[in-house]
Amino acid sequence: MTDAAIEPFDAVDLIRAKRDRRELTTDEISWLVDAYTRGYVADEQMSAMTMAIFLNGMGRREIRDMTMAMIASGERMDFSGLGKPTSDKHSTGGVGDKITLPLMPLVATFGVAVPQLSGRGLGHTGGTLDKLESIPGWRADLTNDEMFAQLRDVGGVICAAGAGLAPADKKLYALRDITGTVEAIPLIASSIMSKKIAEGTGALVLDVKFGSGAFLQDIERSRELARTMVELGEDAGVATSALITNMNVPLGLTIGNANEVRESVEVLAGGGPADVRELTVELAREMLALAGRDGDGDDVEAALDDGRAMDTWRRSIVAQGGDPDAPLPVSREQHVVTADRDGVLVAQEALPFGIAAWRLGAGRARKEDPVHHAAGIDLHAKPGDAVRAGQPLFTLHADEPARFERALAAVEGAWRIGDEGDPIDDGGPLIADRIGR
Ligand code: URA
Repeated sequence: MTDAAIEPFDAVDLIRAKRDRRELTTDEISWLVDAYTRGYVADEQMSAMTMAIFLNGMGRREIRDMTMAMIASGERMDFSGLGKPTSDKHSTGGVGDKITLPLMPLVATFGVAVPQLSGRGLGHTGGTLDKLESIPGWRADLTNDEMFAQLRDVGGVICAAGAGLAPADKKLYALRDITGTVEAIPLIASSIMSKKIAEGTGALVLDVKFGSGAFLQDIERSRELARTMVELGEDAGVATSALITNMNVPLGLTIGNANEVRESVEVLAGGGPADVRELTVELAREMLALAGRDGDGDDVEAALDDGRAMDTWRRSIVAQGGDPDAPLPVSREQHVVTADRDGVLVAQEALPFGIAAWRLGAGRARKEDPVHHAAGIDLHAKPGDAVRAGQPLFTLHADEPARFERALAAVEGAWRIGDEGDPIDDGGPLIADRIGR
């Protein structure tokens, strides 16, 4: 008897079913994910399936089954032995999005453990681990025991998600990346939520971005993704909510790695750009409220202003081998772009600035590529700011001057100086909506 004879389903039947808009059953989905993970269902077949899902969608029950099947493909962590609530945040990614760095220590300061399992960046959105790796000595790879010990002793940890967490998603995400099927809401929602539920957090706040620098540009699609993920979390017993946030303009004044760490430390010192502080504070309040703690506004802000969150940050960096006082890497070359006239900066589009930072070396094109920690962009003005002719608008940082030309080409037409009273093209408020209980 061949192996095929003992498999309960045939991949081709399931592909045809989804192609013809039939709902897949729980058993079919669980078999498909398992058979793909163990290599029985081929990449070619799964590519056809993900495209059928991309085109025809999935119902709520199917998305839940997909999520549960991906969780079942690996280990499920359990932090119940910590004796304190756990709360985490996931962002769908954006340009200059360094919020995890100040947020983790801020929330941990209130006695809520933050198990932040993060990834590296690919393409124009940066990865949290890449940013932190610009701190000399800092180590992303921790064992489960080290992670548990740090959550107990420091209260929060940002580290690499181990290979054992939702391995089906790792394989599937890599396949989607090369088959044009990343932007399917059922696949995004099950991918993100399988990892977050398997991570074992008790509460989860999702920062779902929309706009130029987000991977779903349309706010309605972002709302739909948020609703889907909130339902998946609640169904799995994780207290979940989502903020829908604006990614039309880069977040803060830095895009890169080392410069984003520097800005995060400014926020932890009670300063930093207003938008980075606002989003950090609002997400912290959500995370604390979902974990059942009093997320009283003044208290959260006070923990940034009086050094408590900074203290937790420093202890977490030391616990992972880093030196919080070591100088951060500085680029060998800089190129400053200045205003060509007096006026008001009325546009600064996130995606082109993200692409420019990536071309400067801050991101990677293939997952094997190294990142240049000092590469990136420092912005000196934000939309709405008055500027004078000759004033620096932004500085490009790179180790090789040859990178400036392509970075400058990326931002051509992406910023504009207008006159006082002209409409500001920033896509509206930073926090557009909240979804959840
Ligand atoms: N991030 C994920 O982890 N998965 C997706 O599908 C998209 C973004």
